[in-house]
Order: sequence, then C-alpha cells, then structure tokens
Amino acid sequence: MGDETSTSVPAQEQEPAVGAGSVKQQLSRLVISSLRATVPEVEVEPMVEVSAKFADYQCNNAMGLWSKIKGSGTSFKNPNAIGQAIAKNLPSSDIIESTSVAGPGFVNITLSNRWVAKKIQDMLVNGINTWAPILPVKRAVIDFSSPNIAKEMHVGHLRSTIIGDTLARMFEFSNVNVLRRNHVGDWGTQFGMLIEYLFEKFPNWQEIGSQAIGDLQIFYKASKHRFDNDQEFKERAQQGVVRLQGGEEKYREAWKKICDISRSEFDLVYKRLNVELEEMGESFYNPYIPQVLAELSSKGLIQESEGAQVIFIEGYQIPLIVVKRDGGFNYASTDLAALWYRLNVEKAEWIIYVTDVGQQQHFEMFFNAAKMAGWLPDPKEKKYPKTSHVGFGLVLGSDGKRFRTRSTEVVRLVELLDEAKSRSKSELLQRLTENGKIVDWTDEELEQTSEAVGYGAVKYADLKNNRLTNYTFSFEQMLSDKGNTAVYLQYAHARICSIIRKSNKDVEELKMSGAISLDHPDERVLGLYLIRFAEVPFITISEFYL
Ligand code: ARG
Repeated sequence: MGDETSTSVPAQEQEPAVGAGSVKQQLSRLVISSLRATVPEVEVEPMVEVSAKFADYQCNNAMGLWSKIKGSGTSFKNPNAIGQAIAKNLPSSDIIESTSVAGPGFVNITLSNRWVAKKIQDMLVNGINTWAPILPVKRAVIDFSSPNIAKEMHVGHLRSTIIGDTLARMFEFSNVNVLRRNHVGDWGTQFGMLIEYLFEKFPNWQEIGSQAIGDLQIFYKASKHRFDNDQEFKERAQQGVVRLQGGEEKYREAWKKICDISRSEFDLVYKRLNVELEEMGESFYNPYIPQVLAELSSKGLIQESEGAQVIFIEGYQIPLIVVKRDGGFNYASTDLAALWYRLNVEKAEWIIYVTDVGQQQHFEMFFNAAKMAGWLPDPKEKKYPKTSHVGFGLVLGSDGKRFRTRSTEVVRLVELLDEAKSRSKSELLQRLTENGKIVDWTDEELEQTSEAVGYGAVKYADLKNNRLTNYTFSFEQMLSDKGNTAVYLQYAHARICSIIRKSNKDVEELKMSGAISLDHPDERVLGLYLIRFAEVPFITISEFYL
C-alpha cells in the first residue's frame, strides 16, 4: 500500500516517544540535522528513501534544494555539491557505515553491518515492539465494522471489519491508544416498526430467547411488509418511535432485546476473526445531538431549506441535512454529535472511519462542516486533530455483481466464514489421509489449523487487494496454496519454524550470547529486510497520513 517515494517525516514530529522509530525515521533525524547545517536559510523536510540499487538508503534532498537556492548568491555550484555537503554534515552515528554522492546530489547511505546485527539482536531479546514506528498522535478512534441492527451484515461490513482491525493493530503496534468503535446503526425510525411487530408476533416476547425470533433480517422484512401494507400498523409503528424516544420502559426493553439478538450474530463473526470492538452505536450519541446542533446553529452554519435544517457546504450542490423535515435527526446529525464527542470527551487526535467508498461524499461533507465550525484546525497550520475516511471498493461475486452467498438474498457472514473453514478442512484432510487413516494430527490440531487457514485466507484476500477497487470474491483463489495467498504465507512460516527446529540451535542461548553477525551477503540482505519491518506499518498509515 502507499507510494513509498512520497513518504517523509515532518520535522516537528521527530521526537522519539518510545524506542527510536523505523530506520527511515532514524536516518531522517540525522538528515534533518545535516540539512540545517548545510542550508540553514531554507526549511525542508528530509527525503529519505529505501534505495534498491546503489546502497541501502538514499537522501534525495539536493536537487530540490538546488532549485530553491540557485541564483540566490549561494556558494554551492550545483546540486552535486549540495549532496556532498549533506553527506559531510551528517552527524556521526553508529547507524551509517559509509556514504557516497551520485549524479545530481543523491546521497547513498550504506548501513553499518554491526548496527543492523545489533538491532536484530535487540529485537530477538526485547521483542518486536522495540521496532515500533513513532506516530504523531497518542489517541485515535477507529470507527469500523459498524453494521446495522436487524439489517443485513454484509461483505462490506466484513471488509470494514478486516481493514479497520488491521489499521487498529498497526496503530496499537505504534503505541497509539486506539478506541475501536463499533458505530452500529441501532437508532432510527425503523425501530418503531420492529418493536410493534415484535409485540404482535410474540406477545410473550419478554420470555423468549433469540432463537425464537430466528433470523432478524427475515423479521425485518416481514415487519416492513406489514408497515407498507397496513395503515393501522404503520400509525402504531410511528407512535412506537415516539414512545421509544420518549424513553418508555417497555419500548426501551423491546429495543434492547432486538439489539441483543443482532449483537449476538455480529459477535459470532468477530469471534471467528478474533477482532475486538467496543460497541458505541448511534443511540449513544443521540442525547448529544441537540446541543451540538445548537452550537452549529449559533455559529451560523445551519439554515432552513424546504422544511429541513441543513448546512450548505462550498463545492457541493446539495446541502448536508441535519434535521429532517419531520423534525427527526439522521445519519449526519448523529455523525456530527459523535465527532464532537470523540474530539471533546474522548480527546482523540485522529478519527478514522472505515466504510465503502459509496459513503465518501457523506464523510467529506460532514468533515467540512466540522471545519467550518472550527472543530478541526486549518490543515495548513496544524495537522491534528484530524479526520480520515478510509474507503474501500465493493466485493463482487463471480457474476461481476455485488457478492451474495448462494442464491439466497440473505448473506450470513458466519456461514461464509464457516464455509472457508470447512473448505480448508477438507483440503487438509485429503492431504493428511494415508490409506484411509488420518496421520499424525489430533482433532484439535485439525480444527485449529483449518480455522487459521480458512479465516486467514478471507482476511488476507481482503487486504492484499487494492483497497479502493472492487474485487471478486473466490474461495478457490483465496484458499489456493500457490501465489500471493494466506495459505502460502502460512506455509512459509511453517517452513521457517521447521528450519529453526532442524538447526538444533537454542534460541534462548542465541538471545544471551549476542552473537548475531551478518557476514554472508545473503545474511545482510535478510537482515536489512528484517529491520525495515517498522517501515511497513508506518508507510501504510502514511498513505492517508500526509
Ligand atoms: N452503519 C453504517 C453502514 O452500515 C456505517 C457506519 C459508519 N460509521 C459512521 N460513523 N458513519 O453503512
């Protein structure tokens, strides 16, 4: 992910919080100090990149600097001379073995073998966290998964769950406190209809378990059908919303019951994927909406338009509706209140929303409204707090249309995951069976491995595809043991473990002895790859960070 060449670390964000950051961050700090000594009159950001050809890393600042200072009476004759000076002014450090300057001032940096070996030894002894990149925020909200109660939790929510969890893990690895928020759709006019239908269909609703109601999506459809075709029911449902919002006990209880049923279905998915989420649904923010709208109104942002309350935003034809014509709040007013809460109560510095790209305009518009209200700084002056929408493309079926499992309209994500597991299990069984007997494996091993392979395949297939484009869901492809798949990756991992076993070397001993050295050129290459690990989460986060 991300364009490596455009990633640079702004100067003011250089202070190491924990550890020293990625190799690139460490080199950038050296380059900053050299740039200040070389051209004190101009402020530029360090440009340090991995160099595949000439050295390990490269500093590419000279040419840009040249175009800024030439003709200003500088004593430098050309970009190469600037490059030479940058190289010379690098503070001495045990990271760098040697430098050379090529062409128009590219400074090639070769890392010290001893330093790389020492870093690897450090990691071995103190764990991979010693390599965490340094991010400029302490707390982030990641709003992901966020299905809607009683409606379908579809593959889009699955993608959001997988991408959001992955982002959260990368931020957490980088020592950011992440509030993992499940912004479930648990509020709105549909609850009047659902609750009245519950009362009608299950007069003993207080006693029944969730199984009795069965599939909530079917329940939703049936109640919608009632709503559309029976005027008397419709009126009752509309009254029901008012009673629920007025806090009437029986209605709150029924609402809670419906939410609980949905929740237990969602949890099955999260459990299989090993994803942690804290539910703070739309209903949570509802009490904050009036005060937030009052604030926006006092700032002159809200206007009346065709009976609704709206915010006009420059560059958009239609305004952002914040109070509907019937006086009700909506998705946007909830999101504004949630943002207010996340900024002011939770004190998040970065708020990230993971949904399909179809919602991009909604996010752009409400981020703009927040800027107009002065909640977010002018990005030219300060970068944080900030908001980002991390969009993603659709998941398609082999027919090129939106993905659906089998022919039913209802996609149960749990079934989808179970199918991935059962496919991987039967594949494993085939490979393990000799003369009709399963060799070597206990049932438990078989279960665990088929889960790791099956669920891993679904996650990995989601992540390896370009985030923004649509992709075609295929069990065959994702469970293939060839090419860029989870199975292949897991296989490589198993091979590495087996090499370690066969080497007869004691890892604990290796930790004590401090004996890692990178004498062979192949060892050096491998060592370099290893220490670049911290750059991967950093670059991925930078994709929407700069
Ligand atoms: N419930 C929404 C949906 O299913 C996604 C919510 C995303 N988060 C947010 N704060 N708007 O489309």
